[in-house]
Amino acid sequence: MKKIAILASGSGSNAENIAKYFNGKGYAEVSFIIANNPNAYVIERAKRLGIECAVVTKAEFMEADGIIAMLKEREIDFVVLAGFLLLVPAKLIQAYPGRIVNIHPALLPKHGGKGMYGDRVHKAVVECGDTESGITIHLIDEQYDKGTTFFQAKCPVLPTDTPDDVATKVHALEYEHFPHVIEEILHTLD
Ligand code: GRF
Repeated sequence: MKKIAILASGSGSNAENIAKYFNGKGYAEVSFIIANNPNAYVIERAKRLGIECAVVTKAEFMEADGIIAMLKEREIDFVVLAGFLLLVPAKLIQAYPGRIVNIHPALLPKHGGKGMYGDRVHKAVVECGDTESGITIHLIDEQYDKGTTFFQAKCPVLPTDTPDDVATKVHALEYEHFPHVIEEILHTLD
Protein backbone atom coordinates (compact mmCIF):
# COMPACT_ATOMS: atom_id res chain seq x y z
CA MET A 1 0.00 0.00 0.00
CA LYS A 2 1.55 3.30 -1.05
CA LYS A 3 1.28 5.99 1.59
CA ILE A 4 0.46 9.55 0.57
CA ALA A 5 0.96 12.61 2.75
CA ILE A 6 -0.90 15.80 1.89
CA LEU A 7 0.34 19.27 2.81
CA ALA A 8 -2.39 21.91 3.05
CA SER A 9 -2.77 25.44 4.38
CA GLY A 10 -6.47 26.06 4.00
CA SER A 11 -9.85 24.47 3.41
CA GLY A 12 -8.56 21.08 2.27
CA SER A 13 -11.32 20.23 -0.21
CA ASN A 14 -8.74 18.72 -2.54
CA ALA A 15 -7.19 16.79 0.35
CA GLU A 16 -10.60 15.33 1.20
CA ASN A 17 -11.34 14.53 -2.42
CA ILE A 18 -8.02 12.72 -2.85
CA ALA A 19 -8.42 10.81 0.42
CA LYS A 20 -11.91 9.65 -0.56
CA TYR A 21 -10.73 8.63 -4.02
CA PHE A 22 -8.04 6.29 -2.69
CA ASN A 23 -9.98 5.07 0.34
CA GLY A 24 -10.65 1.36 0.03
CA LYS A 25 -8.93 0.98 -3.35
CA GLY A 26 -6.14 -1.06 -1.77
CA TYR A 27 -3.41 0.56 -3.88
CA ALA A 28 -2.67 3.78 -2.03
CA GLU A 29 -4.01 5.77 0.86
CA VAL A 30 -3.77 9.26 2.28
CA SER A 31 -2.35 8.36 5.67
CA PHE A 32 -1.02 11.70 6.90
CA ILE A 33 -1.93 15.37 6.54
CA ILE A 34 0.31 18.26 7.52
CA ALA A 35 -1.14 21.75 7.97
CA ASN A 36 0.90 24.89 8.57
CA ASN A 37 -2.05 26.86 9.89
CA PRO A 38 -3.79 25.88 13.17
CA ASN A 39 -7.04 27.39 11.89
CA ALA A 40 -7.02 25.54 8.59
CA TYR A 41 -10.30 23.73 7.96
CA VAL A 42 -8.32 20.82 6.54
CA ILE A 43 -7.68 19.86 10.19
CA GLU A 44 -11.41 19.32 10.70
CA ARG A 45 -11.63 17.35 7.49
CA ALA A 46 -8.74 15.12 8.61
CA LYS A 47 -10.49 14.44 11.92
CA ARG A 48 -13.71 13.53 10.16
CA LEU A 49 -11.84 11.28 7.73
CA GLY A 50 -9.85 9.62 10.53
CA ILE A 51 -6.54 10.70 9.00
CA GLU A 52 -3.66 11.64 11.27
CA CYS A 53 -2.98 15.37 11.04
CA ALA A 54 0.01 17.34 12.29
CA VAL A 55 0.07 21.12 12.57
CA VAL A 56 3.50 22.67 12.16
CA THR A 57 4.81 26.22 12.27
CA LYS A 58 6.38 27.89 9.27
CA ALA A 59 9.76 27.72 11.05
CA GLU A 60 9.39 23.98 11.69
CA PHE A 61 8.44 23.39 8.09
CA MET A 62 11.26 25.48 6.65
CA GLU A 63 13.79 23.77 8.96
CA ALA A 64 12.61 20.53 7.26
CA ASP A 65 14.48 17.90 9.35
CA GLY A 66 11.50 17.35 11.67
CA ILE A 67 9.08 17.17 8.74
CA ILE A 68 11.26 14.67 6.90
CA ALA A 69 11.48 12.57 10.07
CA MET A 70 7.67 12.60 10.46
CA LEU A 71 7.22 11.51 6.85
CA LYS A 72 9.86 8.78 7.01
CA GLU A 73 8.56 7.48 10.38
CA ARG A 74 5.19 7.04 8.70
CA GLU A 75 6.77 5.41 5.64
CA ILE A 76 5.30 8.07 3.37
CA ASP A 77 6.02 7.32 -0.32
CA PHE A 78 4.59 10.40 -1.97
CA VAL A 79 3.82 13.97 -0.99
CA VAL A 80 0.96 16.03 -2.42
CA LEU A 81 0.66 19.78 -1.97
CA ALA A 82 -2.98 20.78 -2.14
CA GLY A 83 -3.41 24.43 -1.33
CA PHE A 84 -0.10 24.66 0.50
CA LEU A 85 1.36 28.13 0.58
CA LEU A 86 4.92 27.67 1.80
CA LEU A 87 7.98 27.21 -0.41
CA VAL A 88 9.21 23.62 -0.10
CA PRO A 89 12.74 23.59 1.35
CA ALA A 90 15.46 21.95 -0.71
CA LYS A 91 16.12 19.34 1.98
CA LEU A 92 12.56 18.06 1.70
CA ILE A 93 12.72 17.96 -2.08
CA GLN A 94 15.99 16.04 -1.87
CA ALA A 95 14.39 13.59 0.57
CA TYR A 96 11.55 12.92 -1.91
CA PRO A 97 13.04 13.38 -5.41
CA GLY A 98 10.35 13.17 -8.08
CA ARG A 99 7.80 12.41 -5.38
CA ILE A 100 6.34 15.78 -4.47
CA VAL A 101 3.57 17.27 -6.63
CA ASN A 102 1.57 20.45 -6.47
CA ILE A 103 -1.60 21.69 -8.08
CA HIS A 104 -1.83 25.26 -9.27
CA PRO A 105 -5.23 26.76 -10.15
CA ALA A 106 -4.12 28.25 -13.46
CA LEU A 107 -2.39 27.31 -16.71
CA LEU A 108 1.27 27.77 -15.75
CA PRO A 109 3.50 29.49 -16.64
CA LYS A 110 0.72 32.08 -16.66
CA HIS A 111 -0.38 33.46 -13.28
CA GLY A 112 2.17 31.57 -11.21
CA GLY A 113 4.97 32.41 -8.85
CA LYS A 114 5.25 33.78 -5.32
CA GLY A 115 2.06 35.21 -3.92
CA MET A 116 -0.10 33.88 -6.72
CA TYR A 117 -2.62 31.64 -5.01
CA GLY A 118 -6.33 31.21 -4.49
CA ASP A 119 -8.58 34.05 -5.61
CA ARG A 120 -5.61 36.21 -6.58
CA VAL A 121 -5.00 33.83 -9.46
CA HIS A 122 -8.61 33.90 -10.70
CA LYS A 123 -8.68 37.69 -10.33
CA ALA A 124 -5.56 37.95 -12.50
CA VAL A 125 -7.13 35.69 -15.14
CA VAL A 126 -10.24 37.91 -15.33
CA GLU A 127 -8.22 41.15 -15.29
CA CYS A 128 -6.03 39.90 -18.14
CA GLY A 129 -9.10 39.10 -20.19
CA ASP A 130 -7.98 35.49 -20.61
CA THR A 131 -10.47 33.34 -22.52
CA GLU A 132 -9.46 30.18 -20.70
CA SER A 133 -8.06 29.05 -17.38
CA GLY A 134 -7.53 25.68 -15.77
CA ILE A 135 -5.22 23.62 -13.58
CA THR A 136 -1.58 22.64 -13.67
CA ILE A 137 -0.27 19.62 -11.78
CA HIS A 138 3.50 19.72 -11.58
CA LEU A 139 6.55 18.33 -9.85
CA ILE A 140 7.87 20.53 -7.05
CA ASP A 141 11.35 21.92 -7.39
CA GLU A 142 13.09 24.58 -5.35
CA GLN A 143 11.20 27.49 -6.87
CA TYR A 144 7.50 28.27 -6.84
CA ASP A 145 5.52 26.62 -9.62
CA LYS A 146 8.51 25.92 -11.84
CA GLY A 147 8.70 22.14 -11.65
CA THR A 148 8.03 19.79 -14.59
CA THR A 149 4.39 19.89 -15.59
CA PHE A 150 2.61 16.53 -15.47
CA PHE A 151 -0.88 17.59 -16.47
CA GLN A 152 -3.02 20.53 -17.47
CA ALA A 153 -6.77 20.79 -18.00
CA LYS A 154 -8.61 23.84 -19.32
CA CYS A 155 -11.93 25.56 -18.83
CA PRO A 156 -13.38 28.49 -20.80
CA VAL A 157 -13.51 31.95 -19.24
CA LEU A 158 -16.40 34.08 -20.46
CA PRO A 159 -16.22 37.89 -20.60
CA THR A 160 -19.00 37.95 -18.01
CA ASP A 161 -17.19 35.61 -15.61
CA THR A 162 -16.21 36.89 -12.17
CA PRO A 163 -13.17 35.50 -10.32
CA ASP A 164 -15.61 33.36 -8.32
CA ASP A 165 -17.07 31.95 -11.53
CA VAL A 166 -13.56 31.04 -12.66
CA ALA A 167 -12.77 29.53 -9.25
CA THR A 168 -15.84 27.30 -9.47
CA LYS A 169 -14.81 25.98 -12.88
CA VAL A 170 -11.21 25.46 -11.79
CA HIS A 171 -12.18 23.64 -8.59
CA ALA A 172 -14.35 21.30 -10.66
CA LEU A 173 -11.31 20.45 -12.79
CA GLU A 174 -9.22 19.88 -9.66
CA TYR A 175 -11.72 17.45 -8.16
CA GLU A 176 -12.10 15.63 -11.45
CA HIS A 177 -8.45 15.20 -12.35
CA PHE A 178 -6.07 15.52 -9.36
CA PRO A 179 -6.69 12.04 -7.84
CA HIS A 180 -6.33 10.32 -11.22
CA VAL A 181 -3.11 12.17 -12.05
CA ILE A 182 -1.67 11.26 -8.65
CA GLU A 183 -2.57 7.61 -9.28
CA GLU A 184 -0.91 7.68 -12.71
CA ILE A 185 2.26 9.18 -11.24
CA LEU A 186 2.30 6.60 -8.44
CA HIS A 187 2.16 3.81 -11.02
CA THR A 188 5.26 5.22 -12.71
CA LEU A 189 7.04 4.83 -9.37
CA ASP A 190 6.15 1.13 -8.94
C1 GRF B 1 -6.94 24.99 -4.88
O1 GRF B 1 -7.57 25.89 -5.78
C2 GRF B 1 -5.58 24.63 -5.41
O2 GRF B 1 -5.49 24.64 -6.82
C3 GRF B 1 -4.72 25.71 -4.87
O3 GRF B 1 -5.24 26.03 -3.59
C4 GRF B 1 -6.61 25.67 -3.57
C5 GRF B 1 -6.77 24.72 -2.42
O4 GRF B 1 -8.11 24.53 -2.15
N1 GRF B 1 -3.34 25.29 -4.79
P1 GRF B 1 -8.48 23.45 -1.02
O5 GRF B 1 -7.75 23.86 0.24
O6 GRF B 1 -8.04 22.10 -1.51
O7 GRF B 1 -9.98 23.55 -0.89
